[in-house]
Amino acid sequence: MKSYNISLMPGDGTGPEVINEGIKVLKAVAAKNNFSLNFTNYDFGGERYKRTGETLPDSAIEEFRKSDAIYLGAIGHPDVKPGILELGILLKLRFALDQYINLRPVKLYPNVDSPLKDKGPEHIDFVVIRENSGGIYTGMGGAAMVGTNQEIATQVMVYSRPVVERCIRYAYDYTRKRNRKKTLTLVHKCNVLTYAGDLWVRTHKEVGDADYKDIKQDYNHVDACTMWMVKSPEFYDVIVTENLFGDIITDLGAMIQGGMGIAAGGNINPEGVSMFEPIGGSAPKYTGQNIINPLAAICSGGMMLETLGETNAAAAIDAAVTAVLASGKIKSLSAGKMGMGTREIGDMIASMVS
Ligand code: IPM
Ligand code: MN
Repeated sequence: MKSYNISLMPGDGTGPEVINEGIKVLKAVAAKNNFSLNFTNYDFGGERYKRTGETLPDSAIEEFRKSDAIYLGAIGHPDVKPGILELGILLKLRFALDQYINLRPVKLYPNVDSPLKDKGPEHIDFVVIRENSGGIYTGMGGAAMVGTNQEIATQVMVYSRPVVERCIRYAYDYTRKRNRKKTLTLVHKCNVLTYAGDLWVRTHKEVGDADYKDIKQDYNHVDACTMWMVKSPEFYDVIVTENLFGDIITDLGAMIQGGMGIAAGGNINPEGVSMFEPIGGSAPKYTGQNIINPLAAICSGGMMLETLGETNAAAAIDAAVTAVLASGKIKSLSAGKMGMGTREIGDMIASMVS
């Protein structure tokens, strides 16, 4: 029987609660699909940082490297200064393991309220591929005359051809495999970012012309993209974009698909170890009350199985989530308004996976 070693990082706030439900569903689907999952737990996060001053030691990264995937709850603690855990754990891992793709599906499930009027599941179903290793996230830049009235600061949008090209190629392959509208929309701001934008535009075109003639090439400026995501989301199939633009538009994507309760994501290294997480944060005020929505964590568990090659099991999780939502039993996706508890939703999905 095939077996996978999964590193667990439940993290802060409601992270452990949603991860528990994810594990419940993963175990159920594994049993039905003839593979097994071995979980190793790591307690990195705000509490440990407060206790020991440690965010994420290099030794842990080496252990993660040996596992098949990482399953993350949430990182973020109200008593820890913003930036410490984000940089010290989440971004550190993305960079150390070179998880250069951030895969964020934007999919409206049946019976889920979207804030977009007159839009249903047939209109909102696309995927954003956010470049996850470069851009301003590399931290290149500096400041001078800090604190004076002449202060200057820079933060550079760094991209090399290889870093752009590996992302673009992944996006074309993904669009081909998805096999829907076969359209890959590059999102950038090449009318103003004439160097960094131009690199993306040329790479998108050159790679597409050479190796992906079956895929339609399309381009949107990022500001226009936010407009179209609201007005005509049905237009999109797969979007590929640089790091910061992707960060911003995927929060918009999460909202149009019904909110953070259902938004899942994967930090993927196609040749290495990937990490899967619900996009919503640690939501500390809801901790320990059995009222947080576990669906995003459950869906990111499904994405993990997909990436591991367990496509039937991944499809089974998606089908169970779809069926449960279609049944109307879950009243709302918002914490505290679901009409049932975190654990009850996990139980229900786990009992339905085939
Ligand atoms: C995300 C988050 C992170 C990011 C933060 C927490 C560093 O917003 O995963 O989208 O900016 O990538
Ligand atoms: Mn973000």
